[in-house]
Amino acid sequence: MLESELAFGVLVALARLGVADLIAEAGRPLTSSELSEQTDADPDRMARLLRTAAALGYLRTTHNAGYALTSEGALLRDLPGSLRPALLVAADPLWRETITNLGRAVLTGKAGTNISPYDYLTANPALARQFQQFMAVRSAAAAAALAQRDFTQCQTVIDIGGGQGAMLSTILEAHPHLTGVLWEQESVADIAVVAMAERGHADRCQIIAGDMIDNVPHGGQQAVYILSNILHNLDDGQAHRVLSNVRAAASNGPAQVWCVDMLINPYRAYVGTPAAELTDMRMMSLFLGGRERTSEEYLALLINAGFPSPRIERLSGPMYLISSEVTPLSADDAGPYAPSLL
Ligand SMILES: C[S@@+](CC[C@H](N)C(=O)[O-])C[C@H]1O[C@@H](n2cnc3c(N)ncnc32)[C@H](O)[C@@H]1O
Repeated sequence: MLESELAFGVLVALARLGVADLIAEAGRPLTSSELSEQTDADPDRMARLLRTAAALGYLRTTHNAGYALTSEGALLRDLPGSLRPALLVAADPLWRETITNLGRAVLTGKAGTNISPYDYLTANPALARQFQQFMAVRSAAAAAALAQRDFTQCQTVIDIGGGQGAMLSTILEAHPHLTGVLWEQESVADIAVVAMAERGHADRCQIIAGDMIDNVPHGGQQAVYILSNILHNLDDGQAHRVLSNVRAAASNGPAQVWCVDMLINPYRAYVGTPAAELTDMRMMSLFLGGRERTSEEYLALLINAGFPSPRIERLSGPMYLISSEVTPLSADDAGPYAPSLL
């Protein structure tokens, strides 16, 4: 059990030293001396690190005593879709400290840190870019599943807290008639502007800096509002506020709200890694009110915010879609929060 901490250290060292990229770029196995030379590392320590990485199955020794990548080791390459950003974020001092302080978070009812992780990311732009790459990888399978849905009636997809726009891009690519709106914090909106331009979507997507706790933009008739990995960062009060903002923005409906998150299964009626429970520990350690929720808790959030008939469907792996139609509100019901941006 305790070995996983040491294996994590080995993975982070390999990722930081760029060992997987050096081996892949060489196009052949590399010896320990070659790798220590190319990384300017201590030869004895590099040899011990590589020996351990091979024992753990991240590298494979070859007959000429060089090291080749295994399929696991190849995931450390600095390529889209790799595990590298997730590892580098998990290795950041704030992420390490907060998870080590989990017991204190349980005792005090507070997060394991006094700083908001998103403020911390804003103050650390390189880490913020890693975090957004990590999110893009984490949400890729859910994005692909969403992109297969029927968007015939929809014109606009509004991704609230959409990060660098990876999910929105996947949907826009699959449905050329759609336009997108990405609503993000200012520092992340700047990252998204570059990422969306790189993907060739600059002209189909408005990237708007805004605070979802204050408001979200109107998407017009038949809009789809996406909240992917958003509500699990928030306590019930904040989640209610954000959902109410969506409800108000969609008041001219019909529209749809799609929430993407893991769900806690109290009966553990599945096998494999307890991803939702472990992510709940991450939410507890990082955010004051962040939590993964059971189906019942999630449905209650939507119903209380004015979405009377939410549905739950499995999307992919541990990710679920909790969705609801939004019917037009009467003038008396409409909230004050939705600016007209489209
Ligand atoms: C866990 S990430 C999810 C990113 C993306 N939706 C996904 O599923 O991959 C949460 C995102 O919400 C954004 N965010 C946090 N607080 C926000 C706020 N008050 N207003 C707008 N965006 C916010 C963060 O910048 C971050 O990109």
